[in-house]
Formats: sequence, C-alpha cells, structure tokens
Amino acid sequence: MHFCPAYPKPRKHKASALLMFFSARRSWLDALYERSYRMQMGEVHLPGLDLYMVNEPALVKRVMNEEAGQFPKSPLLGEALQPLLGESIFTTNGEQWQRQRDMMEPAFAQARLNVAFPLMRAATQDMMARLDALPDGGEHDVEVEMTHVTADIIFRTIFSVPMEGADARRIFEAFARFQAVAPRLLLPSVYGVRWLVWPWDAWRSRQAAREIRGLLEGLIRPRFDALRRGEATQHADILQSFMEAKDPASGNAFSFDELVDQVAMLFLAGHETSASALTWACHLLAHAPEVQERAHHEVEQVMGERAPELADMKAIALTRNVFRETLRLFPPVGFMARQAASACTLRKKPVREGATVVVAPWLIQRHRDLWAEPDAFNPDRFENDASRESLRQAYLPFGMGPRVCMGAAFALQEATLILACLLRRYRLQAVAGHEPQPVGRLTIRSANGVRLTLHRREGVAAW
Ligand code: HEM
Repeated sequence: MHFCPAYPKPRKHKASALLMFFSARRSWLDALYERSYRMQMGEVHLPGLDLYMVNEPALVKRVMNEEAGQFPKSPLLGEALQPLLGESIFTTNGEQWQRQRDMMEPAFAQARLNVAFPLMRAATQDMMARLDALPDGGEHDVEVEMTHVTADIIFRTIFSVPMEGADARRIFEAFARFQAVAPRLLLPSVYGVRWLVWPWDAWRSRQAAREIRGLLEGLIRPRFDALRRGEATQHADILQSFMEAKDPASGNAFSFDELVDQVAMLFLAGHETSASALTWACHLLAHAPEVQERAHHEVEQVMGERAPELADMKAIALTRNVFRETLRLFPPVGFMARQAASACTLRKKPVREGATVVVAPWLIQRHRDLWAEPDAFNPDRFENDASRESLRQAYLPFGMGPRVCMGAAFALQEATLILACLLRRYRLQAVAGHEPQPVGRLTIRSANGVRLTLHRREGVAAW
C-alpha cells in the first residue's frame, strides 16, 4: 500500500466562474473540482478573460511544442514578475527570447554542470553542518533549510562565492519578501482583474525587487567592468558564461541591464522550484519509511562514508526516482500559461485571439485516465514498463518543447545530491497531527510548512 499525500479535496461540481475566482484567491488548487482531474479540456469565462485548461496529451504537445509559436508565453505572468525580472528569458517571446536562449544555453551544458558539482557539494556540506548543530531528534520546518541550501547553490554557481556576509543575507531576505507577496499579484493578473491587487502589495513587491536588483548590480558590476577592460579572470561560473556569450546574429554581448535581468531570473527560478520539490520529497519520505530505508541502504552501499562524487549521482537510482516521483505529485511549476497569438480551434471549439491557454502539470500528472494510482507515492513506477506510456505522454514537470526548463539537469543533480546526503545521515520522521496543506503560490508550497523530526543515524559520519 503506497502513501497518498493529502491535497485540497476537489469540489464535487464546477463552481460558477465568480465563486471559482474567489476560492482561487487563497490558492488556485482550491478552485479545482473532480472533473478537472478527468477532463480533456476545461474552460473558464469571465469578463475580459477566456481561459482554456488543456489536459489531453496530444493537445498539450500541440500547444507546448508543435505550435509553440502560435502559443507564446502569456504576458500576464510577466506583468507580476516584471519589477524583478525585467526582460528576462522566463517571460520574453519571439526573437528576443531565441537570442537569450542561444546565449544562455552554454552555461547549462554538461561540461559546466561537472564544474558546478564541487560547488553544489560544498553548499550541501555546509547544510549538513547546520543540521548537525541542531539538537538530535528535534522538530524542524524543512522548507527553511531547503530554501537556504538551494539559494546557496545557485549563488555559488552564478558568482563562485558562498552566500555569506551581509549583502548575500540581504538578497536572501529580500527574495523571501518578494516570494511572499508576488502570488498576490499573480492570480489577479492571470484572471484579468488587476484592480483587485492591493496597492500596498504592489508597492512591497516593487521595493523588494529594487533592493534585490541593487544588490545584484553591486556583485555583477566589478566583474563586468573588469572583463570590458580585458582583465583575465579565473571564474568558471554562470556569470562568466553569460558575460562571454555573443548574440549569434549580431555578435553583441548582453548589456549590463540584460545581465542583471537574467541573473535575477536565475536566482529565483533556480531556487524557488528546487526548494519546493525538495521540501515535498522530505514529506513523502517521512511518510514512506520502507522507501526511505531502501534509499538509505542504496546511498550507503554506493557512497559509504566518503564525500559524494559526481558518478554516484547516476548510481543511486532510487534516490533520483524519489525526486522524479515528487516532481510528479508536487510539480513546483503547477501550471504554465500561454496566449493564443491568433484565433484558432481547440478540440473543435473556436478560441479568440488573446485567449489564455493553460497547461497544468499538477492536473496532467494526477490525471485519472493517464496514470495508475495517480495519487500514490511510488518511485518504482519509473523502473516499471507499465508506466512507460504515462511517463512519455503525461509527465512534464520541466515543461516541454522549445521553452523546456534550461536548468532541468542542474536541478536533478543538486536534488539527488542533497537527498543522498540527508538520507545517509538522518532518519526523517513525520510529526503526529501535522498535515501539510499544498497551496499554489509562485510554486506549490505548504500553507502550514512541512514539519519533521530528524534523527541522526548511529555510526554514520557527516563526511
Ligand atoms: C525542480 C526544479 C525545477 C523545476 C520543476 C523547473 C520547472 C520549469 C518549467 C516548468 C519551466 C517552463 C515554464 C514554461 O514553459 O512556462 C522552466 C523554465 C526555466 N527554468 Fe526551470 N525548473 C526547475 C529548476 C531550474 C533551475 C535550477 C534553473 C537554473 C539554474 C532553471 C532555469 C529555468 C529557465 C532559465 C527557464 C526558462 C526557459 C525558457 O523560457 O526558455 N530551472 N522551469
């Protein structure tokens, strides 16, 4: 019997569009109803908004891949994130996006990931030291530590320095403020009712964004100027790769402001998502002690007591599968929003130009007709022939098509490493009476945290 984590119970029937919007204000997961998990396509119509939710695999492929040009990214998401991300790759479209993608892709090639591994390991070692300093068997909200370690990893891989010191702490804190308030801007924007955004929230989001960008500029400026002066540099990090990148058509490099946009975006995309998934992975492992013991054993067999190596990450298949199954049940990017560039038809329905088309991994990856035991935590399904078709057509935690996540391999590498180190040294145990409540914010988070107790295992060194 596999563990089935709790999530908002879908309502029996579809609510009116207005009621749906008000239930979605706390979390869009609250607006879902039973048929959302069975349907091929759903629709919401409000004044100024036509929204189509597509679940059917062939249609998802058409929107995300085959006709990606006809369904560019919706500008609605970009609006809420603009003060922080400016014109970053996450929100741009067309030629501007293609140029950014071409220039940024080399930073995520396998060779670069190999170089990033020791930086990831050093950040994970610091995480283990922080955990070891806490009383054994104590209760923690694991989201706090998962946010810290993933922010530290992205900071080190961008700048080659650990996230320490006053400025780094200020960036971290300002990001936390931005992440807390951004969802309150996001949903009214997607529903086309921006007037519902509290001016106070909009102001707080702009303040946090301004502070983050100011601090990032302070870190980027000296290296940008040194490169322009032709001074040699020892760095093999993401910032270096971005600064050296040339537009294939014009031969131009990124301007200073464009660099700040891309770095701010990477910092957000690179840790908010991974932190969310790792937190849910800890929750699932704590409730599936049999899986946890098998994964612990596997890690011990492969890594013993020595420092983790890059090659180990491929050898610990169950740990990787735990993470992949977590991404199925709790996809950090719960939905992706596109816009119809011109009038078209979806499942024979006429769709007007400008309509919003949503692809939701949260629904597709729990779809009743596409998965066996859709709500069950079963990492072994990734080794199982019977799941091959489900995985091929209904598993897309990193998106699909030309806009697929650029950091997918990066995220898998860091998450496997962090989970392996945690599993080797600690036994994760659920706290009686505490049930995390998934909510759709910037990513899928728990409204009441994820509280666990961590028990050190006998005779296992911290390494
Ligand atoms: C578990 C962790 C992660 C998940 C689940 C995830 C998921 C996604 C998804 C679903 C998209 C596509 C969004 C869309 O099509 O609308 C995306 C885009 C992107 N992600 Fe990730 N991501 C993760 C980690 C990372 C990391 C660690 C990085 C960088 C270090 C990163 C960088 C990006 C970038 C740059 C894009 C934009 C690509 C483009 O539009 O061309 N992501 N991510």
